[in-house]
Amino acid sequence: MAGTALFSAVSTSQAAAPLRLCADPANLPFSTSSPAAAKAGTPGLYVEIGQAVADALGRPMETIWSLSYFGKRNLRTTLLAGQCDFAVGLPAVEDFMGPRVVFSRPIMSVGYALAVPKDAGTNLNGKRVAVQFASPPQSFVATRETITPATVMDPDAGMRLLADGKVDAAFVWGPSAGYVNHAVLHDAFRVVPADGPQMRYEAAIGFSRKNKELRDQVNAVLPGLSAKIAALVVKYAVPEGPPVKLAAMDTVQSVIAEAQAPAETPKPEAKPAEQPAVASVNPTAEAPKAAPKPSAAEVAEGREIFNGTCAHCHGPDAVQSERRINLRLLRHRYGDDMYAVFHKTVTKGRPSKGMPTWGNVFTEDDFSKIYAFLSTIQAP
Ligand code: HEC
Repeated sequence: MAGTALFSAVSTSQAAAPLRLCADPANLPFSTSSPAAAKAGTPGLYVEIGQAVADALGRPMETIWSLSYFGKRNLRTTLLAGQCDFAVGLPAVEDFMGPRVVFSRPIMSVGYALAVPKDAGTNLNGKRVAVQFASPPQSFVATRETITPATVMDPDAGMRLLADGKVDAAFVWGPSAGYVNHAVLHDAFRVVPADGPQMRYEAAIGFSRKNKELRDQVNAVLPGLSAKIAALVVKYAVPEGPPVKLAAMDTVQSVIAEAQAPAETPKPEAKPAEQPAVASVNPTAEAPKAAPKPSAAEVAEGREIFNGTCAHCHGPDAVQSERRINLRLLRHRYGDDMYAVFHKTVTKGRPSKGMPTWGNVFTEDDFSKIYAFLSTIQAP
């Protein structure tokens, strides 16, 4: 069998070299560096899948821990810089990080889920529903007048409200909801995957494009691991089964599709006359002048930084139902002062209001790119 031949070729030529897994030290149910968890045999779903892949390739595995708070930015300094060889669980979508990251075949589907009492259905009409701040479920409930939302900062908080009887359902990140329900709440609730735009993605194993050979080796062993992976999905209580299609999801789809249209086809050269005007009306003396005419590549990089770091709070591609933090309204709100307010807010933050300070995290160049991206998606 072809798979066997490949397997033995791999194991003899690379037996000594450890396969280095890129993993987040604090991201249960996916990964944790906690020695207690390792001892208990629960180092996380992605760590165990990584180990299964390494075993199948006949190589030892080494885990390279790196906090993935900055998402793609983190992968750039780990996976793409050759610090580690593979990252389990990346969204296998083409625009994730462009051609620099290549993917294995999909290993599982992950997404948002609905946690409800065991005897309750999944119809949310007339219900109180906990949703994560700046998430697709929040956008969904915002369009439904019959639902009373309770906004939470993370899935655990949503599950706590549900357990305390303060809401009727929690519509939050599925793997976290499943894990909390199982590990903390003794499976008190039913956790059902939800379907809809931006609600789910196929997770795969990601590699640097320089490492396509390893990708091909992993693809060759993955079919043999599917039963093992399915068992691990159950072990970590990731919600499974056919996702529920939420009623009137199509309304949201059209709203999101419309809002995203400008981002898909950035027009960096649009309205060039507005840029010089910013500099002359600029009230913040220390703010550098707005970058002249960004290129399409700069806009794309800005979008990537934005979606990797800012989207947690401001929404993917800045699609955000909460007006206060909707960055598509910057021009509406500030007109010619838009650049000055942007620059001051990102470099100094508004710590008392929940906007972090990014002055020590990003360079002026990064800020120009983020601004270039935001400029292309301002509401008309
Ligand atoms: C942890 C959540 C969080 C993250 C991450 C975050 N922001 Fe914010 N941001 C906020 C909040 C909350 C406000 C609103 C503060 C207020 O009410 O004045 C805000 C306000 C802003 C504003 C001013 C909006 C206005 O209309 O006045 C800008 C510009 C902005 N953020 C840009 C960014 C950029 C760029 C990033 C990524 C580098 C980012 N933010 C990341 C939470 C966040």
